[in-house]
Amino acid sequence: MKSNLTNIILISFIFLGLFFWNEAQSDTTKPLNVKPGFYFKMKIVEKGRSLVKTFECNDCHTAGYLQSKGNMPEDQWLTGESLGWRGPLGTTYGVNLRLLIDSLTEAEWVEKSKVLASRPPMPHVILNAMSNEDLQAIYQFIRYLGPSGKPAPAYVPPGQEPIRPPATIPKPPK
Ligand code: HEC
Repeated sequence: MKSNLTNIILISFIFLGLFFWNEAQSDTTKPLNVKPGFYFKMKIVEKGRSLVKTFECNDCHTAGYLQSKGNMPEDQWLTGESLGWRGPLGTTYGVNLRLLIDSLTEAEWVEKSKVLASRPPMPHVILNAMSNEDLQAIYQFIRYLGPSGKPAPAYVPPGQEPIRPPATIPKPPK
């Protein structure tokens, strides 16, 4: 009887352990691997990652992120979105932030973010109001991820049709 109880307790602990181990596997609960060049910056990189999560930059700047309910490997984060937002001001696309950050110094990024006035639905007021420390953290996180992907499609003014790849236009029946 006693050994039965011990077994039950043991098995429960194993399951609990498995549960927490599994939890720890999900992206943002697991600390990032240290990359060369970021040895002394990992604290700020982790802060940037958490800010990017909090302000949901991926929702519009990562293709497929919303559809996957946020279940996307971090190496695909912020590589841009080819699905456009059409409104009275034209059609806009969530730009590839991995390439953008690669082309800017940290100081340039901070300066740009403070005065950024993008078209909808970019919530640029969030960036405008951020502290230098938070903007630097976002910069370092995106730099840590590194440049990747292609540029998102360019903005299309109102009244013009976005250019679609020819392959998606079906041929009329003969
Ligand atoms: C609701 C969707 C949405 C969210 C959320 C969002 N963005 Fe954007 N963002 C866009 C779109 C669309 C554009 C392109 C706007 C344009 O063409 O003027 C853009 C443009 C930008 C630009 C300007 C790029 C340039 O070269 O001018 C930056 C920088 C940027 N976003 C950063 C961020 C960051 C950082 C976050 C998270 C804090 C974020 N965005 C959250 C949709 C979004």
